Amino acid sequence: MGRTIAIGNRKGGSGKTTTSVNLAAALAHKGRKVLLVDADAQGHSALSLGSTVTPGQKTLFDVLVNGVEPEETVRSTYLSTFHLIPGGSRLATYERDHATDPSARLRLAERLDSMRERYDYVLIDTPPTLGLMTICSLIASTDVLVPMQAHFLAMEGLAETIRVLGGIEKYYHSAVRLLGVIPTFYQANARLSRAIIGQIRDRLGESAVLHPIRTNIALAEAPSHGMTIFQYQPRSNGAYDYLHLANQVENLS
Ligand SMILES: Nc1ncnc2c1ncn2[C@@H]1O[C@H](COP(=O)(O)OP(=O)(O)OP(=O)(O)O)[C@@H](O)[C@H]1O
Ligand SMILES: [Mg+2]
Repeated sequence: MGRTIAIGNRKGGSGKTTTSVNLAAALAHKGRKVLLVDADAQGHSALSLGSTVTPGQKTLFDVLVNGVEPEETVRSTYLSTFHLIPGGSRLATYERDHATDPSARLRLAERLDSMRERYDYVLIDTPPTLGLMTICSLIASTDVLVPMQAHFLAMEGLAETIRVLGGIEKYYHSAVRLLGVIPTFYQANARLSRAIIGQIRDRLGESAVLHPIRTNIALAEAPSHGMTIFQYQPRSNGAYDYLHLANQVENLS
C-alpha cells in the first residue's frame, strides 16, 4: 500500500501546487508510480501539466458526486509512471452543497481507496482554505506536507494546521502525520527566512523542517508552458531542490 500525502497550507500562494506537481514529477523520475489528485477548484495542478479540462470530461467532481470510477478520470502525463486526476471549478459547487454533510468528509478517502495499491504515492494538491476539500484531503491522507513561505504571520497558519490535524485524529480516528514543513521561496541570505525556520525547529523539532525550495524564476515560468521543472529547466535550482526533497520524502517513510 502506497502513501497518500496531502500538500496543504491555508495561506494562498505558499507553493502548494508548485510542490505537488514537481514533487510528484521528481518521485516519478526516480521510478516511483505516482498519482497526483487535484482537489482544488482552481484546477492549477492540471493546468501546470498542460492538461486542460473541457466540458464533458470527467474530473474528481464526477468521482465524488456521480459515482464515476477514479480510473476513468486518470490522465497520463509525459512520464509513464506519473498520472493525474484533474480537479476543476465544479469542486466549488461540491464544497458549497455538502459543507454541512459529515459523510462528504469521508468520501474522498473512500473513493481513492482502490487507487492506493496501484501507486507508490498519491499526492493531493489542496485549496487555500480549511473548507471541505481540504478536510476531505487530510482525512484521505497518511501524511501531510506544509509548504510555507517565510512571512511573519506564517507560524499562525502552521499552528492552525496542527490544530486541524489533531481534530481529524480525534473525530475521524484517522491519524495524519505531519511529515514536515517545506520552506518555499527560500532565500538563504534573508534574515526572515532563517528566523522563521528557527522558529519552526524550536516548535516542532529539527527534523520537521525539510529541504527548502529556493526562489527560482524557472519554477514560476514552467507552468505557463504546461511543463514541470524537469522538462522546462532540468538544471535549475528548482529542479535540484525538488529532487532533493523527493529523496528526503522517500527516506521519511
Ligand atoms: N520557489 C519558487 N520560486 C519562484 N516562484 C515560485 C516558487 N514557488 C511557487 N512559485 C510561484 O508562486 C506562485 C504561487 O505558487 P503556487 O501556485 O504553487 O502556490 P499555491 O499555494 O498552490 O497557491 P494557491 O493557494 O492559490 O493554491 C505561482 O505563480 C508559482 O509559479
Ligand atoms: Mg494551488
